[in-house]
Amino acid sequence: MHKTLKTLLIVFILDILFLSFIYTVLYSIFKTIHKPSIWKLTIIHTNDVHSRYDQINEAATDCSSKQFEQKQCYGGIARHKTVIDKLRKENKNSLLLDGGDQFQGTLFFTYYNAIGNHEFDKGPETLAAHHSRLNMPIVCANINTTLNPLLGANIKPYHIFKEYNLGVIGYITDTTGGISNAGPTLEFYDPIPIVQQYVNELRSMGIKRILTVSHNGYGPDKELAANTYGVAVHIGGHSHTLLSNDTTSNDYHLASGPYPTIVKNAIGEDTLIVQAFWAGKYIGHLDVSFDKNGKVVNYSGAPILIDQSIPQDPEIADLVKQWREPFDQYTKTVVGRANEPFDQSSCQRNECTMGNLVLDSFLWSQRKISKVNAAFLNSGGIRAGLMKGNITREDIITILPFSNSLVILDMSGQNITDLLESATGRWKNIISGKRVTSFIQLSGIRFKYNSSKPVFKRVLEVNIQNSDTEIFEPLDLKKNYKIITVDFVANTGDGLLPYPIQDLIPLDSPDVVLTNNIQDKKVVSPYLDGRIQDVAHITIHSTLSPHEPIHFGYFDDDKLSDNVEIKMKGDIKPGRQIVIKIDGL
Ligand SMILES: *[C@@H]1O[C@H](CO)[C@@H](O)[C@H](O)[C@H]1NC(C)=O
Ligand SMILES: *[C@@H]1O[C@H](CO)[C@@H](O)[C@H](O)[C@H]1NC(C)=O
Ligand SMILES: *[C@@H]1O[C@H](CO)[C@@H](O)[C@H](O)[C@H]1NC(C)=O
Ligand SMILES: *[C@@H]1O[C@H](CO)[C@@H](O)[C@H](O)[C@H]1NC(C)=O
Ligand SMILES: *[C@@H]1O[C@H](CO)[C@@H](O)[C@H](O)[C@H]1NC(C)=O
Ligand SMILES: *[C@@H]1O[C@H](CO)[C@@H](O)[C@H](O)[C@H]1NC(C)=O
Repeated sequence: MHKTLKTLLIVFILDILFLSFIYTVLYSIFKTIHKPSIWKLTIIHTNDVHSRYDQINEAATDCSSKQFEQKQCYGGIARHKTVIDKLRKENKNSLLLDGGDQFQGTLFFTYYNAIGNHEFDKGPETLAAHHSRLNMPIVCANINTTLNPLLGANIKPYHIFKEYNLGVIGYITDTTGGISNAGPTLEFYDPIPIVQQYVNELRSMGIKRILTVSHNGYGPDKELAANTYGVAVHIGGHSHTLLSNDTTSNDYHLASGPYPTIVKNAIGEDTLIVQAFWAGKYIGHLDVSFDKNGKVVNYSGAPILIDQSIPQDPEIADLVKQWREPFDQYTKTVVGRANEPFDQSSCQRNECTMGNLVLDSFLWSQRKISKVNAAFLNSGGIRAGLMKGNITREDIITILPFSNSLVILDMSGQNITDLLESATGRWKNIISGKRVTSFIQLSGIRFKYNSSKPVFKRVLEVNIQNSDTEIFEPLDLKKNYKIITVDFVANTGDGLLPYPIQDLIPLDSPDVVLTNNIQDKKVVSPYLDGRIQDVAHITIHSTLSPHEPIHFGYFDDDKLSDNVEIKMKGDIKPGRQIVIKIDGL
């Protein structure tokens, strides 16, 4: 097998070996020893690929053949190989570094992860056999694996590339324990003092060219860069950050800073930070020249957009196709059973049974690892209901098709009230004025509102679960709460939140969480428990005719936020169905 093809395979095998544990990994091709006074290195870097082995579309989901025709496909490891091969060929000294989170996000992970579990079940001998095939060091300095020697055997604080006289220190967010299933045997520490400790150790060994590869997020990377010294370049990940100087790029509005971002370190010297978005849409490329003291004297480079102008390596493309084949079978797998149908059609108006199941599963999954108060989701994120009977993986993906990640927000009681006013106002955000395009579903919050009242004055009574006791308590406007939602909503999707929230840590994807919850329950039954209650008295002005539908006129979409009053005279006999049709909706 071709050498670089093997590299890509290795990354993949690694993915299937490690469970839901975030790691930092790096790989290098060793080249000839070369030590002039100015030494040039090509850094090729990726991060947060989230198992996008195949090409993706603008939304980071599978690219359809139509999108391919319209040249709207990006990324995919077959294109990555083309780019990486080219950069390696053109540059004498190169390192390929990955800032972690290769896994999680698509069926490639969900499906092959099952195999990974199975491999673990077979015990350390099988694992060891796999590891002997990996020729890529994994570095992470701020993890304590004493209680997990199996994992510890494969992780070290740094790796020295002797041929380059260069050291790479790895570190990870110290919140990993709280956001993944790392389990009780692993401990994570504040990386700042630890990175400095290992920089000093490397320098005392005569290694002056030092890089870090991290899975810590852009904000925390800047903090670490400012509070340490002796590191030339920090290669990051975790926050899915695009850094770019290219104002002509279509993605420029997504950039959080320049590429590279320059930070003054603890002794006032410049240190460089890079990151390359996520999902494999970009490959980072930074050329750096070092002086004999390991300081960067000049640099050049930019993230490379992996679009359809880059040919796919045919061998890898074929491999990806083969990996895909078993999904067909996989999507038909039964994960549980629905006792009765779950309704999604009312999720944009009221509490709905599909919404309750989805949101309760969010809370259920995160409460296993951290203390959270509640969860909410835009109703538009729930795309289908469930039929009575077997539930397959395909059903779950149809209900929650977006490749979002759960995130945990800090929200004050006032923020939560603003959210509920914005959602029940069904018009615009109370703070930002941005159009609100979805109602919400929630769990861990129960509230009443009066839809007869003017917009932004509707929310009456809000109760929220105490994260320790899980008892519902009145919302305290001044208190801070831990609230689960998805990254889309946190980014002001559907206008529910006023401002985008930066540097959030992406957790599991909603479909995985719902699947786990249904597998855990085996059989699910729909229920409504009054968590969202409109207390408005609905009265309708019309003579009821037993045979004819009642027509109440038309409402312009834009005026829906105005109070629509429907009054009804006379008795409504139990069992008499009233159909209210609002045309144009
Ligand atoms: C790592 O964990 C072990 C076991 O809990 C503990 O004894 C040791 O002190 C820890 N190491 C550090 C550096 O904290
Ligand atoms: C730095 O400058 C030198 C001299 O102009 C040049 O040869 C080298 O390629 C530059 N290095 C980078 C990383 O751009
Ligand atoms: C990108 O812009 C920043 C800020 O202006 C600058 O420091 C950096 O050198 C630029 N990047 C490159 C590769 O020139
Ligand atoms: C439901 O799934 C179970 C388990 O896979 C299977 O035995 C059963 O035949 C399925 N029922 C229907 C109606 O498909
Ligand atoms: C909470 O309110 C503050 C002040 O209006 C605002 O800056 C912040 O973005 C809000 N946070 C959320 C999550 O809505
Ligand atoms: C709802 O608001 C309307 C209009 O202000 C008011 O007349 C009605 O009494 C309120 N209903 C309840 C149950 O508070």
